[in-house]
Amino acid sequence: KRRRKMKRHIVMIGMMGAGKTAIGSELARRLHVPFTDSDAEIESAAAMSISEIFARDGEAFFRDRETQVLSRILKGPPGVVSTGGGAWMQAGNRELIRAHGLSVWLNCDLETLWHRVRQRSTRPLLKTADPKGTLARLLEQRAPVYAGADVTFEARADDSIEAAATRLIDQL
Ligand code: S3P
Repeated sequence: KRRRKMKRHIVMIGMMGAGKTAIGSELARRLHVPFTDSDAEIESAAAMSISEIFARDGEAFFRDRETQVLSRILKGPPGVVSTGGGAWMQAGNRELIRAHGLSVWLNCDLETLWHRVRQRSTRPLLKTADPKGTLARLLEQRAPVYAGADVTFEARADDSIEAAATRLIDQL
């Protein structure tokens, strides 16, 4: 079977817990292109976890690194890229993503997001007295901005990663 060579990146955006990394890596596998996770790249470059970077250097420092890493990934060979939930919130990052790829918003409801993130304590932004309320506020602030992505994919709570990837490929 002949495949069309992918010319642009596919960039997964959306809230923490939406499945950007899980669905993105499955998508890359099916499309036979490289997969890169910007959070993982930031962690390995800094030899620290995201939580440690936030604690030691602060969010502004993290956002700087995020832009640097995204820029490097997006200027490299086309593949599927998963971004951190806040990446799309910066106008400069949106321009960068639009210049190099197709943006895909994994839209997911609050209950599903909360169910997925509450088990893991790796998200520094949720280290608050009311993490679910924080998540709800972030979703409310961000959803209208995420909606500017090229593609909106409705992530279903009951979809397996495989089923989600199949539906997404159909939609692209
Ligand atoms: C963040 C999401 C995280 C990570 C950081 C900040 C955010 O990535 O980049 O904790 O601002 O929503 P995931 O969306 O992969 O959890």
